[in-house]
Amino acid sequence: MNNFLEHIPVLLDEILENLKKFKITNGIIIDATFGLGGYSNAILEKTNCDVYGFDRDPDVLKYANKLKKKYKNRFKFFQKKFSDIDDILSKQNYSKKKVKGMIFDLGVSNLQLTKKNRGFSFKLNGPLDMRMSKEGMKALDVINNYSAEKLSDIFYNFGDEFFSRRVARHIVKLREITPISTTLELADIIRKAIPGKQKKIDKATKSFQAIRMFINDEISELNKGLIASEKFLTYEGILCVVSFHSKEDKIVKNFLNVCQGKNNLFISKFLPPVENSKKSFDVITKKPILPTSREIKLNYKARSAKLRIAKRTKFSCVFNCEAAA
Ligand SMILES: C[S@@+](CC[C@H](N)C(=O)[O-])C[C@H]1O[C@@H](n2cnc3c(N)ncnc32)[C@H](O)[C@@H]1O
Repeated sequence: MNNFLEHIPVLLDEILENLKKFKITNGIIIDATFGLGGYSNAILEKTNCDVYGFDRDPDVLKYANKLKKKYKNRFKFFQKKFSDIDDILSKQNYSKKKVKGMIFDLGVSNLQLTKKNRGFSFKLNGPLDMRMSKEGMKALDVINNYSAEKLSDIFYNFGDEFFSRRVARHIVKLREITPISTTLELADIIRKAIPGKQKKIDKATKSFQAIRMFINDEISELNKGLIASEKFLTYEGILCVVSFHSKEDKIVKNFLNVCQGKNNLFISKFLPPVENSKKSFDVITKKPILPTSREIKLNYKARSAKLRIAKRTKFSCVFNCEAAA
């Protein structure tokens, strides 16, 4: 299986190296962001581990089915969200084979970004959709119905957009004339609302990221996924998270700090209250692993990736669940 033309997996060599280094050669690995199966395929090929793939996007089913055919009992796929992992794993009979790894490769895949009908890209003309699971509220609903204040909060909180208020006011003014229905219309409105010349990074980038994160509830999903990793990883199992922007990376860093009993006074407002402060993870990467210049040359999209790795200790969960066994 090679879906490389459609999505090149980021920091894959580094993930495989660490699985080897920490002797993760059997048991179960959760690929929480299956996408086009780049990680799952490589793990199934290079280790004796079983893989449970998760992805909320129904479009990835065809890739999951290919892997199911190839690896039969070693691969299972769940078209589910991070927030369902706890429930699914609780129901699985995995007591003999323990969860030895949990991997998150955050954000959108090329499959999503390059299909104009999914509405993720401000470069392709498509409907204002942006739903990873193809269910629930669309970007269209938010852009055309939310108040200027609410829109501004979204752009600021999820995209760090300095001109959030201007962008929001501009949207509200223009949608009174005619509803905003396409990605290119929205991108144009955002660009015009932001003063100054177009720089290297498109002016629509932050606001598009913000709407996508809001629509897909990405912050809360990530926190729930991380909390599930603490609950299900076995002693010495490893957590690997690849993030693509500072908001995500900060959540991962913060989560690991709290799991080490550090930083208890500064717990992200999105995390539930902490129950105790025993160290449930050892952080392996004091500083995140970054892609090499070679990888960036081959895959420019990898340039902003950061990989953090942590190893589960034997202590009970900080986040209100059972001990690692
Ligand atoms: C960057 S892609 C992963 C690519 C994959 N590692 C590969 O090599 O093909 C991220 C994937 O995660 C999925 N995803 C993002 N957030 C999710 C969530 N909360 N629950 C389940 N899947 C999610 C997206 O639908 C997308 O397919």
